[in-house]
Amino acid sequence: MNEIKKEIIEVGKRLWQRGYVAANDGNISVKISDSKFLTTATGVSKGFMDESDVVLVDDKGNLLEGMKKASSELPMHLEIYKKRDDVLAVVHSHPPTATGFAAAGIEMDKGILPEVILTLGNVKLTPYGTTGTDELARIVAEGISKNNGLLLQNHGAVTVGTSLMQAYYRMETLEHFANITLVTRILGRQSVLGQEEIAKLFAKTGSKAPEFSDKSSGEKSEKFMLSRDDLTNIIYDIIKQINNQEDL
Ligand code: 13P
Repeated sequence: MNEIKKEIIEVGKRLWQRGYVAANDGNISVKISDSKFLTTATGVSKGFMDESDVVLVDDKGNLLEGMKKASSELPMHLEIYKKRDDVLAVVHSHPPTATGFAAAGIEMDKGILPEVILTLGNVKLTPYGTTGTDELARIVAEGISKNNGLLLQNHGAVTVGTSLMQAYYRMETLEHFANITLVTRILGRQSVLGQEEIAKLFAKTGSKAPEFSDKSSGEKSEKFMLSRDDLTNIIYDIIKQINNQEDL
């Protein structure tokens, strides 16, 4: 258990160094057995933890070992473990770009990068839930039932894994994906992989391919091509109309 505590401290440091958490944000947990979990304590900076900042709890959230109170988000972690028996570690943080999407209420659910699809599945955005409540725990556990990364509306992100390092690396991938998605949105286009391409990616893994919408982003505001001359003529016409109105 001491080794796992050290790993939790190390992951906390990396989350803080990469700016995925500020002040006392974020929490980390690891499943030790069906009834024992290590979790970060509430209200501690993840960048400066020592072993007293990691406590042992049971599957109801009761403190078994340690002097500090467990994370306020422990119900969310425990609900995820209940829903996903393959999950052995959970990381929650507020990485700025992914959290920007979550705060804007914008999904990152387009299948645009093969590695991300294979690693995280389809990153969904949950409805809003109050931090630290059973309501949020239920919403998140439901949202992460089929995928390994999730955006929490107006809050942050959660990733899961079969080891703590895997859950942590998935958080890195999620934020990297958010940055790339942001660039595609700035450029105004997303080339989205179709469900057939996604199925091919999963063919060798033996796992079921996640469902994606294969519609390109920006379809709500229909896109069309315009030559420079056409655009100049349209602007010229508008200016002419404005001038005519001023003359009247
Ligand atoms: P804790 O300090 O209680 O783990 O809460 C931090 C947090 O990020 C809440 O969402």
